[in-house]
Amino acid sequence: MNLFIKNIGQLVTVAARGEPFKAGADMRELHVIENGAVLIEDGIIRTVGPTAEISPPNNIDVLDADGRIALPGFVDSHTHTVFAGSRENEFAMRAEGKSYQEIAASGGGIISTMTATRAASKKELLHTAERRINEMLRHGTTTVEIKSGYGLNPESEIKMLEVINILRRDSLATIVPTFLGAHAFPPEFKGDKQGYVDLIINRMLPYIGERQFATFCDVFCDEGYFDLRQTENILLEAKRHGMIPKLHADQLSAIGATKLGAQLNAVSVDHLEHLTTDGIEALKKSSCIATVLPGASFFLNQPYAPARSIIEAGIPLAIATDFNPGSAMCFSMPMMITIACTQMNMTPEEAITAATLNGAAALGLSSEIGSVEAGKQADIVLYDVPHYRFLPYHYAFNHVWRIVKNGTVLEF
Ligand code: NIG
Ligand code: FE
Repeated sequence: MNLFIKNIGQLVTVAARGEPFKAGADMRELHVIENGAVLIEDGIIRTVGPTAEISPPNNIDVLDADGRIALPGFVDSHTHTVFAGSRENEFAMRAEGKSYQEIAASGGGIISTMTATRAASKKELLHTAERRINEMLRHGTTTVEIKSGYGLNPESEIKMLEVINILRRDSLATIVPTFLGAHAFPPEFKGDKQGYVDLIINRMLPYIGERQFATFCDVFCDEGYFDLRQTENILLEAKRHGMIPKLHADQLSAIGATKLGAQLNAVSVDHLEHLTTDGIEALKKSSCIATVLPGASFFLNQPYAPARSIIEAGIPLAIATDFNPGSAMCFSMPMMITIACTQMNMTPEEAITAATLNGAAALGLSSEIGSVEAGKQADIVLYDVPHYRFLPYHYAFNHVWRIVKNGTVLEF
């Protein structure tokens, strides 16, 4: 818990003035300290500066980075890490020209993972998710938001949230739980959509709220999924039960989900592949984080969210993986940064800010994590690279050297 990390070739702190998030040109300023050091006490960062200027107390554990590069742990603010089964058959169908929507309409998609997840035991879900989280950590992610949404009935949604809360208690990463009962309409309510909305509002939200099983409530607000009215009703009710709104917005079509998110004071609106100028105007006036998910566009071969317009409008932008078995089977944040740079015209600096500090803001946690600053949780990852830009540049290779979580060097 007490640790002195020294001789860090580039200490990428991301922020230096306690900013809760960054927007516009600020996203390019990473506050890099050459030959830096970090002094950690009780898992909290105490001092950050050049190695030559910090004198550590006697007998403290020392980690000599020997010129390696350090970044804040990545904050993956949008994932569906708990699920059973897999959908490589759909991956092959898309390669033959079928779209995500066509596959969903023919019985695949979210519903196929729902069937597998309903059939899985808690132990099985826990075991597979634990292994995924450990791999995420090994790739530099120290905080993971996890959504329910593959149960789609009270029993199985609650099973998923119980698993997520066990992971929250026991896993090495920081886990943030989100309720996504409104992810799709289950087959038993195909002809009675309002019946499923009522089930969420009358049965699921009160139970989950009372037990504080979820920090956030998310809704997949899109054509063929939850419409604006259903989304608003669910999220207003979720607020009454102490959950903060999030939205899957503008992924497949533009039905006004982003504007609704802004009106409801959602902490973030996520996806945004079909973001409109109206949506941008609404976000400008709100405190929402715009979270883009490069891995989903890449995997589904769909348009990318207009990251440049978002940044140029001064809206804080975050990047997350959307890790899930259907639309984004990848939990590497460095890979997302590479895609953001090559496909969305973001600079490496903007993408790193989006994957750390702004991801933390998308979880309401930026006073605790997301940058290497005094007073924050000591979640710091060291990479065996000559420059921080090497991370997205030499892509699809794991450059992690050491992971420091709450001030402890992980060995697992
Ligand atoms: O974020 N858009 C909705 N939900 C997921 C996909 C989930 C799935 O296909 O299993 C997403 O892309
Ligand atoms: Fe998602």
